Amino acid sequence: MQHSGESYDRLAWLYDAAANLYSGGQIHALKASQISELQPGGRILYAGVGGGEDAVLAANHHVALTVLDASPAMLERAAVKFRAAGAEDSIEVICSDVLEHERPAYYDVVVANFFLNIFTEPTMKIVLAHLARMVKPGGKLLIGDFSHPKGRLTARTLQRMYYSLSMFTFWLFGGTPLHPIYDYPQYFAAVDLQTRSVRQFRVNALFPVSFEAITAEKM
Ligand SMILES: C[S@@+](CC[C@H](N)C(=O)[O-])C[C@H]1O[C@@H](n2cnc3c(N)ncnc32)[C@H](O)[C@@H]1O
Repeated sequence: MQHSGESYDRLAWLYDAAANLYSGGQIHALKASQISELQPGGRILYAGVGGGEDAVLAANHHVALTVLDASPAMLERAAVKFRAAGAEDSIEVICSDVLEHERPAYYDVVVANFFLNIFTEPTMKIVLAHLARMVKPGGKLLIGDFSHPKGRLTARTLQRMYYSLSMFTFWLFGGTPLHPIYDYPQYFAAVDLQTRSVRQFRVNALFPVSFEAITAEKM
C-alpha cells in the first residue's frame, strides 16, 4: 500500500480544526448532509475515518457503525468524540490498512470522505474497487471530496488553486502525493457503481463549487 496512517499520526492534533477553517465550515456541512443517506438498522463503514466528525453524527441514527483508519492517533481523536456522544460501546473501531479489511457485499453504506484523494491514481482505483466490493448490491458508496473543476476557465483555475493550497500543505507533511483533482464518477462503471446524486458546497458565494458529496449506488 502506497499510503499508511503514519503521517496522519503527526497531523491528528490539527486536522479537523484546519479542515474546517480552510473550508469555512463547508466540509462539516458536506458530512452532515450525508446523514440523510443512512437508514436505521443499516451497516455503515467509515473508511479512513480520521477524527470521526462524520461518524459521530451517524452514531445517533440507529445504525451499526464500523470505523476504520490506519492511524492510531486519528482513531484516538475519534474515540474522544464517540465517548462524549455516549456512543463508544456501540461502534466497531478497526485500526488497519483499508485493503486488509475484507467484508464482501456486507455494508449498506460505505463512506469515503477526503480519503481516496490521499492515494496516487493507480492506488486510488484499487481502493475504490475494494470499497465498492464491500457494498451490498443496492447499497451506497458516499464520497465527500474536492469538486472536479467545472465551468469557465476562471472557475476551473480558481478551484485548482484552492485545491493546490491544501494538497501542497498535506504533501509537505507526507499526507498525500501530488496529483490533480479526481473525477470519481468516471471510475464508477468499472466497479459496478452508478452516480445517483451530487450535492455541491461552496466556500463562499463568489467561489466555484469547492466540494462535492457524491452518492453512488452499487449495481
Ligand atoms: C485526509 S484524512 C481524511 C479523514 C476523514 N475521513 C475526514 O474526512 O476528515 C485521510 C485518513 O486516511 C487514513 N489513512 C491513510 N492511509 C490509510 C490506509 N491505507 N488505510 C486506512 N486508512 C488510511 C489517515 O490516517 C487519515 O486519517
